[in-house]
Amino acid sequence: MSSQAKLQVLVSRAELNTTVDKLAAAITRDYNDKNPLLLGILKGVFVFMSDLVRRLDFPLEIEFVRLSSYGSGQETSGKVKMMQDLELNIEGRHVLVVEDIIDTGITLAFLLDYLKKKKPASLKLCALSDKPVRRRMPVKIDYLGLTVPDKFLVGYGLDCDEKYRNLPDIYVLEE
Ligand code: IMP
Ligand code: MG
Repeated sequence: MSSQAKLQVLVSRAELNTTVDKLAAAITRDYNDKNPLLLGILKGVFVFMSDLVRRLDFPLEIEFVRLSSYGSGQETSGKVKMMQDLELNIEGRHVLVVEDIIDTGITLAFLLDYLKKKKPASLKLCALSDKPVRRRMPVKIDYLGLTVPDKFLVGYGLDCDEKYRNLPDIYVLEE
């Protein structure tokens, strides 16, 4: 990465707060009596997921998988690797997959297909952000926070080569 990298705020922490509030309200309406399993995709989702679940005041369980489709840098390799698999059995469970950003859709198409084979009672997707312009595989997003432009974003869990995940807002990275 060049040392000239510039960061421009795209989504402020205040806007992220409102966005997560709205998602939490919708999820509460649909899942408050279902003891859902919220399945986060590491690593990028860790900030969003922790903000989201602290707004959900009903019984639920949390699980993570770690997937990787990027080598290093800003382009997907197109191949999804399961770096850390499920530990919990999801058969018969109401599973809500939680993701930070949907780009080509390759990661989610792979994961949803994998999860369906394990026979959950229901399977839905919540994404903080979506870059629809970049889609290569169709993905239905049941709960969407923000539609974002085709720019490389960092912060609020999103990284570039593992950096910037700790920033509290979402920024466009310009190099
Ligand atoms: P997809 O398989 O192309 O949809 O890629 C999804 C994954 O790529 C996300 O879970 C992110 O980890 C990563 N990703 C996509 N766009 C960005 C971005 O703008 N910044 C950081 N990570 C991104
Ligand atoms: Mg991710």
